[in-house]
Amino acid sequence: MDQAKWQEFEDKCRSCHNCGLRDGATNVVIYRGGKDAPLMIVGEAPGQQEDIKGLPFVGRSGQLLQNLLSAYGFKEEDYHICNIAKCRPPENRRPTPEEIKACKPLLAMQFTLVRPKVILLCGSTAYEGFFGTKPSMHEVRGKMIEKNGYYIMTTYHPAYALRNPKNKIPIYEDMGVVRNKLTEIGAMPPLEPIDK
Ligand code: URA
Repeated sequence: MDQAKWQEFEDKCRSCHNCGLRDGATNVVIYRGGKDAPLMIVGEAPGQQEDIKGLPFVGRSGQLLQNLLSAYGFKEEDYHICNIAKCRPPENRRPTPEEIKACKPLLAMQFTLVRPKVILLCGSTAYEGFFGTKPSMHEVRGKMIEKNGYYIMTTYHPAYALRNPKNKIPIYEDMGVVRNKLTEIGAMPPLEPIDK
């Protein structure tokens, strides 16, 4: 990891005013996890807790995501968690297409620095930010796509599972596919049995 390039990237994020969201945000939320992790997890935008702490996925959705990562033996250096928008939209509304577009050069830069092997898109905004079209989540989720040498999986946003615990099942399954792919390509060791 090139520390100077990384610092330049973080400075760019913190001084960005490409859209109006920065004015209402306390912090620019850039990432948590490893800087050169094999898995990049992309969510929508910071919520209240994330805005206060300056870290992504540290509220209730984050707790659920963290449980899932622990269940599959991920350590902090194995994942890089970020969002399509780095500043909190007012009242937690979805970022607009213009805001997504404004934030995209920063996400592209982040992607180039991290160079993940597998990308997990959580929810329809993450999908839209990546592919440019609004998905039907029931159709796109759970399918591992290979694009330009990267593997991309789309799953539901963890907030979807907070609405109904049954919705945890597909997210858990999709994370399992991601975990297996990371092992298959040699980016992570096989998952050890729990009762070893
Ligand atoms: N939801 C998101 O999409 N991202 C966060 O960082 C927190 C909640």
